[in-house]
Amino acid sequence: MTPTDNNIRAEFPLINGDSIAYLDNAATTQKPQCVLDAVNNYYVNQNANPMRGLYELSLKATQAYEDARTAAAGLIGASPEEIVFTRNATESLNLIAYSYGLHNIKEGDEIIVSVAEHHSNFLPWKNVAEHTGAKVIYWDCEPDGYLNPDTLAGLIGDRTKLVAVTHVSNVLGRVNDIRAIADIAHAHGVTVVCDGSQSVPHMKTDVRDLDVDFFVFSGHKMYAPMGIGVLYGRKQLLESMPPFLYGGEMIETVTKERVTYAAVPHKFEAGTVNAGGAVGLHAAIDFVDRYGYELIESRERELTKHAFDVMSRMPYITIIGSDKSEDHMGIIAFKVDGVHPHDVTAIFSDADIAVRAGHHCAQPLHKHLGIMSSTRVSFAFYNTMDEINRFLEVLESIRSRMGIV
Ligand code: ALA
Repeated sequence: MTPTDNNIRAEFPLINGDSIAYLDNAATTQKPQCVLDAVNNYYVNQNANPMRGLYELSLKATQAYEDARTAAAGLIGASPEEIVFTRNATESLNLIAYSYGLHNIKEGDEIIVSVAEHHSNFLPWKNVAEHTGAKVIYWDCEPDGYLNPDTLAGLIGDRTKLVAVTHVSNVLGRVNDIRAIADIAHAHGVTVVCDGSQSVPHMKTDVRDLDVDFFVFSGHKMYAPMGIGVLYGRKQLLESMPPFLYGGEMIETVTKERVTYAAVPHKFEAGTVNAGGAVGLHAAIDFVDRYGYELIESRERELTKHAFDVMSRMPYITIIGSDKSEDHMGIIAFKVDGVHPHDVTAIFSDADIAVRAGHHCAQPLHKHLGIMSSTRVSFAFYNTMDEINRFLEVLESIRSRMGIV
């Protein structure tokens, strides 16, 4: 499909026409009409409790839910039985930490966590360490945000059990070399947990090529509704893990004395599932497929390059991380000298431009880079050059609006 700005925008009711310049896509994306329609259609025509009933409506709901699983598996090169639906990436990471971490990591063991992690891929591991007596080892990035695999190799020791690393930083937009990281980790028998929340919406990912043991992402950052997330785990690992939550539908048989659990992935999906969300995710995957990652990535890179090049020439703007635009996958975090990020964001908000200010749930990374907070602009392929220019125009005027000359 060869899109124009107009026909992509026309798919998104909330941002179609003269409207907000929505540049906070790393937080969540807007939803295309096809996703809204799919969710609506599910509730109008297919809703029943999946996997519970033998009547036709429940069978339809089950089919819709399992079709979504197959689509999610196809998106990242996995098998359907290796895909567990969760609420979001955070829940996926907690599931891994509770069900895998607590049962495989012992006192004295070491967990390596990159300093570039979102708190969601840091706090679950800190919690595992506190419960088991294991130790968290921090893997610092270089000043330009690069996570050097050689540094990782130097941190791995006899007691290292697991490495937690993001595919793309939600602050720096830096794409990490996950395959190189996995190769080093696996050479030492170390498990790799990768957060794909900021990669799956923007670039083709394949868990077999990356060779990771666990991989997670959220639906809402890739055009799907909030409340549906994905956990990929290698089948033999998922099979070896105890359930995370206990209750309905995750069992095979229950007696007063003994319980046997359902096969994976259902063992990890206790209680009534978010079938409407899964259907929405399926529609979002079809939407991404319709445009294709090649187009999505190249448009986003073009938008990022334009913003980055102009911002780099602005005195008083410091871009966080690499000084090369190609190292920023749709995300640019920055500081405006003399202006607090909250004030920067408020000025953008007055101009109907949405960007995010703060630590972006990555306080250790900000501290490591010697800053408290930043402003972040992040793009999706539905953004336009006009919106970027609107953003740049306001950015250029911020210091004078604050009375700084
Ligand atoms: N994790 C989301 C972000 O980075 C909310 O903004």
